[in-house]
Amino acid sequence: MSGAVSHGAAAVAEAGVPVSARLAERARNVIVGGVNSPVRDFAAVGGTPRFFVRGKGAWLTCADGRDYVDLVAAWGPALLGHAHSEVVEAVQRAATNGLGFGASHPDEAELAELIAQRVPHAERLRFVSTGTEATMTAIRIARAATARPLIVKFAGHYHGHSDGLLAAAGSGLATLGLPGSAGVTAETAAQTIVLPYNDFDALEAAFIAHEGRIAAVITEAAACNMGVVPPAPGFTAVLTSLAHRHGALVISDEVLTGFRAGPAGYWGVQRDLGQVPEAPDLVTFGKVVGGGLPLAAVGGRTALMDLLAPAGPVYQGGTLSGNPVAVAAGLATLRGADDAAYARLTSAAAQVAGLVAHELTAASVPHRIQWAGTLFSVFFVDDAAPVRDYVGASRQSSARYRAFFNAMLEGGVSLPPSPYEAWFVTAAHDDAAIARIADALPAAAHAARVA
Ligand SMILES: Cc1ncc(COP(=O)(O)O)c(C=O)c1O
Repeated sequence: MSGAVSHGAAAVAEAGVPVSARLAERARNVIVGGVNSPVRDFAAVGGTPRFFVRGKGAWLTCADGRDYVDLVAAWGPALLGHAHSEVVEAVQRAATNGLGFGASHPDEAELAELIAQRVPHAERLRFVSTGTEATMTAIRIARAATARPLIVKFAGHYHGHSDGLLAAAGSGLATLGLPGSAGVTAETAAQTIVLPYNDFDALEAAFIAHEGRIAAVITEAAACNMGVVPPAPGFTAVLTSLAHRHGALVISDEVLTGFRAGPAGYWGVQRDLGQVPEAPDLVTFGKVVGGGLPLAAVGGRTALMDLLAPAGPVYQGGTLSGNPVAVAAGLATLRGADDAAYARLTSAAAQVAGLVAHELTAASVPHRIQWAGTLFSVFFVDDAAPVRDYVGASRQSSARYRAFFNAMLEGGVSLPPSPYEAWFVTAAHDDAAIARIADALPAAAHAARVA
């Protein structure tokens, strides 16, 4: 698609107002804040959010007519690239047979089998529509299984927008500088213990202070919603053994990392490094597993998952759960996510990160790039020490990111509109896409330096 629309050919509306600006104004009149998810409004980076009308491979076309290399990938799902032909064909086939039955269909078990082949501790699965539902359901199962009330989460980890998980939640809340959400009762908030990530002592102290009351620790398999902050060596293993020793469960949230950090998510990355002697009890998936349509899943040990209705007493259900069109998109995406796709993702991510590091270093902009499998993000921090937690992530310069983001956008590259997010490549990021990024970088590095 590169070159399909010339780089400087942004269409301008009759009144001289760019099309995206007009669309944003129209949306603000009928949609809260003009957006259907807060980070989309560009609050952290300034300027007018782009309204996209088309995506193909690594490229997005906005309503102004201009094309951009995409480094957001729909916040993860577009693993194979936008509008991948096999995914689109699968969706079309499924849609032709009916958009949904509100009843079981054969492909649900097919998708569950594919997931379990890659992630064996997902012995049983339940499909839902969003990552939020998946983590909410995992927590309900954990409380039912242990008959305990408290949940431990880590500052800067995002698990969706259910009441109990919004404290110090990273992602959009970090972007907006919110400690939590209004509308959550003090009683609900008090059932969540928020700890600093990668802090072995704080975790042990929490188990001692709340002995017999912690149902589960929920953790992103690698934190990617405050920028990318992987678990410190040994942290996942210690977390799991501590939790189990104290009778609590571990919920590994792979909504973002699942099938993206690597073929078996970040669990697979750690397994290959010999870093996860014990599997988590419950695991959540989203994003890639629905290939861009609303589908997510909670999985885990059979004995725990069988607590869900109709097998057990924990209620969960959904009109759209396991929707056949969404399942078709997920199946086609996972089938396409083969060794060659991961090899391409790995090399594209390395190329992009390498170019960014080169230009920022050349422009003397202090920064640090952190990784979780094929995921990475760039922290504009002054010292070279690893970012290990939310306090560390919050030390990054939002002003530098803002300048860098806008210069990249001007150069035809769409980055996450917040410094608290991972960068996402796709298996379709080819030489033309990488060349566009390389061309945009010198001006962006300069903008970051003078910010
Ligand atoms: C790790 C993690 N968990 C849960 C969620 C919530 O998923 P959804 O936005 O589909 O509700 C997200 C979303 O970004 C996420 O990154």
